[in-house]
Amino acid sequence: MVEVSIFFVETHTHLDLIKRNAQEVVRDAAEKKVTKMVTVGIDLESSKIALEFAHRFEGVYAAIGFHPHESRFLDEENLKELEKLAKKDKVVDIGETGLDYYWKHSNLACQMEAFRKQINLAGKLNLPLIIHDRDAHRDTLKILAEEAKGLKIILHCFSGDLDMAKVCIKRGYYLGIGGVVTFNNAKKLRAIVKEISLESLVLETDSPYLAPHPFRGKPNEPKYIPLIAEKIAEIKGVSVKEVAERTSANSKEIFGI
Ligand code: NI
Repeated sequence: MVEVSIFFVETHTHLDLIKRNAQEVVRDAAEKKVTKMVTVGIDLESSKIALEFAHRFEGVYAAIGFHPHESRFLDEENLKELEKLAKKDKVVDIGETGLDYYWKHSNLACQMEAFRKQINLAGKLNLPLIIHDRDAHRDTLKILAEEAKGLKIILHCFSGDLDMAKVCIKRGYYLGIGGVVTFNNAKKLRAIVKEISLESLVLETDSPYLAPHPFRGKPNEPKYIPLIAEKIAEIKGVSVKEVAERTSANSKEIFGI
């Protein structure tokens, strides 16, 4: 019997924000068996770049959208542009979109409106959503309940508590788990990872931010995904292979990649 080797799917990187040659970043990740990745746009320009990367590199796919920080720029014209982009080959997701009540770079009404519009776009094109939720759990869950029925959802860099995680799982959402799970002070997140089934988790770095231990504070890259998988395996008492296989299957279910 031929053993199929394991691979990891990185569900959230920002290749355009990593200050290193993208080809090398993708190659270094592949050497660590991170052979598929979704590079995530934060506004129209970075969404276009995400798509360029997706077309240049095998195994790279694009998520396109307006980050809550940029939501004040999502006017009708940009929304139309986004829709055009969303129909291109290798676009697998609308995102990242959502709410950020910590920084509030855009006012809350504007964030909510942009969030709803992007959920509706995802619905129209039957694409999944990558959600950014910082200090906005209640409104995020409320808007998703109202607008996103039947859509596949990843709550990227999940930061809620166990009760919220359970609500999300019940609704069929996936939780994106990144470098934070390796941090000393991330007890709460580790307890959630322990409790929640692998069936509902996906791997992500959010690179160049949030590098896992022992690279915390340094630039992050998709090549560190195995460090996150190892931590999840340790917490759950399963093999890294099992984490890789299950989270890759989840990513396929969400993105079709
Ligand atoms: Ni991000």
